[in-house]
Amino acid sequence: MKFTSIQEAMKKGSGKVSVRGWVYRERGSNKLKFIVLRDSSNIIQCVISKEDVGEEKFLIAKKVQIEASMEITGEIKEDKRAPTGYEILVSDFAVVGESDTYPITKDQSPEFLLDKRHLWIRSRKLTAVMKIRSAYVQARDEFFRKEGFTRFDAPILQPNQCEGGSTLFEVKYYKDKTYLAQSWQLYAEAAVFSLEKIYNMSPTFRAEKSKTSRHLSEFWMAEMEAAWFDLTEVTEFAKKEIKYCMKQTAERCAEEFALLNRDPKKLIKISEKKWPTIKYKEAIKILKEKAKLAIEFGKDLRTIEEDKLMEHFDTPIVVTHYPKEVMAFYKPRDPKNKEEALCFDMLAPEGHGEIIGGSQRSTDIEEMKKDLKKEGEDISNYEWYFDLRKYGSVPHSGYGVGIERVIAWLCGSDNIKDAIPFPRTMLRYKP
Ligand code: 4AD
Ligand code: MG
Repeated sequence: MKFTSIQEAMKKGSGKVSVRGWVYRERGSNKLKFIVLRDSSNIIQCVISKEDVGEEKFLIAKKVQIEASMEITGEIKEDKRAPTGYEILVSDFAVVGESDTYPITKDQSPEFLLDKRHLWIRSRKLTAVMKIRSAYVQARDEFFRKEGFTRFDAPILQPNQCEGGSTLFEVKYYKDKTYLAQSWQLYAEAAVFSLEKIYNMSPTFRAEKSKTSRHLSEFWMAEMEAAWFDLTEVTEFAKKEIKYCMKQTAERCAEEFALLNRDPKKLIKISEKKWPTIKYKEAIKILKEKAKLAIEFGKDLRTIEEDKLMEHFDTPIVVTHYPKEVMAFYKPRDPKNKEEALCFDMLAPEGHGEIIGGSQRSTDIEEMKKDLKKEGEDISNYEWYFDLRKYGSVPHSGYGVGIERVIAWLCGSDNIKDAIPFPRTMLRYKP
């Protein structure tokens, strides 16, 4: 007996097939048992009749519960009434693993489904999201390989902050203490002086005190850093990356997007449009004129402001030149306008907000020291980083993409928790 996937069996369309998977739905009478079987590729209706399999076996079939695992052999045929248009008339089957009464039934609360995430992960919705995520990450790897980048991995245990001390996770380190990575960036900046163009994707940790639908405590950041790139080059490169990855993913995952009621053609269209770049000052002007929100120069854009701003765009946009005052220590002042930093965010449409943060990198050691001291940092932990400016520094830039934010946007999920298999948030680190 050679097993095929359900998808392959349906492609064959007729004749004898053997498939294996898990019971997605079941119902029956005294003579017939209908089982919808699920595997990683699709679902299919299977009909077991007492007449065909005999009384003894039929008794076993009758007892089969949702999520039992089974091997099924039979004749496949087209049937318009079946959930995926095909049906298997079962000639033989085996129950591989019985199932207790499955705790997940219809209409359960999001909290219950998070408690049962280890089981809910089997749902068709999460399966589709995980396939889209996988396709996206694979496309991204292709993109960076084509662009001549080298993959570079940095430590996860780091003695220094990158994005502000208030969201660091502290870790006991023998007799000392250290932190979980907030970003790959500072170490990437060491490596660009040999490898020049590098990228990676790794777990990133932030002790976020916000319980929003956009924040995780552990997420995957996909970063890049390149020697010789200035702000303009890096923002255009960021657009190119996201456009490539979203188009490839939409083309490769049409069925998964359909399952999530998302039209992949719309995503492809967005990827083919021009994505605007505006300055922070223009953004606050739009907010003032069109949304009647008065933002003073000097404040970072909050979620509400990002959302209001994005009501005026149907593609992602890049916002550059945020006020230096509220930006991380490594973001340089614009020599043409000292109040502004040479940095950018990319914002996604449809209320998904910031998906990328990046910048050119400062070469002004004294100013970086001043900023870090203001934040109460021990400068001695950053001496290695300042060294990078002392031995043949060159202009360089980079950015980080929040993978879950991008996946949530592409999938049309209203919560970032649906874009990662086992979400960790301020309120949850289990299961
Ligand atoms: O804007 P951020 O903080 O930028 C950095 O960490 C830079 N050091 C990256 C770099 O230049 N190499 O984070 C980058 C992106 C954000 O735009 C957002 O998409 C995502 O990471 N992100 C989060 N995603 C989920 N949960 C959180 N708590 C996140 N914090 C940031
Ligand atoms: Mg940011």
